[in-house]
Amino acid sequence: MRKLNIAIVGLGNIGSYLFNYLNINKKILTEKNNCMPIIKYVSAKNKKKERNIKIKRDQWLDNYLLATKLKDVDLIIELIGGSEGPAKKLVFNALRNKKHVVTANKALIAKYGDTLANIAEKNKVNLEFEASVCGGVPIIRSLKEGLIANKISKIYGIFNGTSNYILSSMDKQNQGFNEVLDSAKRLGYAESNPSADLNGDDVSSKLKILSSLCFNSFLNNEIYVEGIKNIDNTDIDNANKLGYKIKLLGFAESINNKIYQRVHPTLIKNDSYVASIDGVLNAVIIDGNPVGQSIIQGEGAGPAATTSALISDISSILRGNIKFPFSLSNKERKKLKFKSINKRDFSAYFRFEVIDKPGVLSNITNIFFKNKVSIKRLVQNPNKNKQISSIIIITHKSLDMFLNKILKEVAKKKYIKTRPKLIRINES
Ligand SMILES: NC(=O)c1ccc[n+]([C@@H]2O[C@H](COP(=O)([O-])OP(=O)(O)OC[C@H]3O[C@@H](n4cnc5c(N)ncnc54)[C@H](OP(=O)(O)O)[C@@H]3O)[C@@H](O)[C@H]2O)c1
Repeated sequence: MRKLNIAIVGLGNIGSYLFNYLNINKKILTEKNNCMPIIKYVSAKNKKKERNIKIKRDQWLDNYLLATKLKDVDLIIELIGGSEGPAKKLVFNALRNKKHVVTANKALIAKYGDTLANIAEKNKVNLEFEASVCGGVPIIRSLKEGLIANKISKIYGIFNGTSNYILSSMDKQNQGFNEVLDSAKRLGYAESNPSADLNGDDVSSKLKILSSLCFNSFLNNEIYVEGIKNIDNTDIDNANKLGYKIKLLGFAESINNKIYQRVHPTLIKNDSYVASIDGVLNAVIIDGNPVGQSIIQGEGAGPAATTSALISDISSILRGNIKFPFSLSNKERKKLKFKSINKRDFSAYFRFEVIDKPGVLSNITNIFFKNKVSIKRLVQNPNKNKQISSIIIITHKSLDMFLNKILKEVAKKKYIKTRPKLIRINES
């Protein structure tokens, strides 16, 4: 029986769950893959920390980097996290020393994936990162294998469970942003520092990885990123009244041979599939030819779902399946020029909180007219007691640069009470 010696570095939420899973399921994994996974070594930062796993004395490595040098290690599983520091050192050294690597680290792959893939290819070892994007949703293996026949024109969806939980709870329970964020932290859906989830960075890393796989390109940093911090309950109520839901979506799309990557809160029709994805779930929608539209939905994070993805990667290595990390040899991957969304057109939702006095509405509509953005729908909700009025405008499609010009111009007006809002609408 063939054997594969594994070192797991990082024994936190994910590493300790994976450790137990591998021990319990060693037999079935061996049978399915015709090769036995053996956890030879483990390492983490603090040896004395109490853990819910039984580590044998000879399994613990005091220096995690030793795993990259030991002859009896074939595969290193990096579960430390972060794009720099120990995770980066570990993965670079492992690949240079011809060890296979499995990682759940989206930040590392989004930043150094191209260089790492180059080293893996040269040294004929695997670099697998299914768990880095959307936890248990097997999107990377689907793109690399199940959907290999397809020319992908668009991939989009909900790639962050924390922000989806916040937006859907604000909608369903009519709670404020901070109140929902606190409950998300209590329930373990948000980290104590949830900034990467809320400012769109987490989705941005995942989207970069997915679009490079979809368009056979190198990772590309031309990406528009906006998080959910400015969304309030009034926007959510307005969206409902207009027949929409607000979701934080990531999009990578090819339009007339130009590729756009963007992450932002989006108004989507409330009868669409994505609108129905609530809570911590993730959903990925792929438009491909010849397959048409494919959808995969599932748990986007957490130890169980992430371990499902890690085991898929480990099994691929157990079967001795050496593949290019990004599907193609680095020589075949393209240096595509991705476009800024400035010149992509959208219809949009604007919200202006203004002093309720004559002339304001006509001043605003004039600014739209001057920027050649045509208005599809306008709703004005006056609050006579406070002498303010909320103006909601839905536009026809217009270049993003003009929508932003309007936002900036109106924001400077003396009649504006709070920062104006612009939320792009997804028509499909
Ligand atoms: N949590 C999720 O739901 C989820 C989902 C998908 C992907 N991921 C990714 O999975 C990875 C791990 O996440 P996690 O939630 O398991 O993180 P975590 O609970 O914070 O665990 C991190 C582990 O790394 C170890 N570590 C930190 N610094 C180290 C160093 N200098 N040397 C050696 N070990 C070090 C820690 O050691 P100690 O235990 O001794 O402190 C800990 O065991 C991250 O890349 C994350 O983005 C997580």
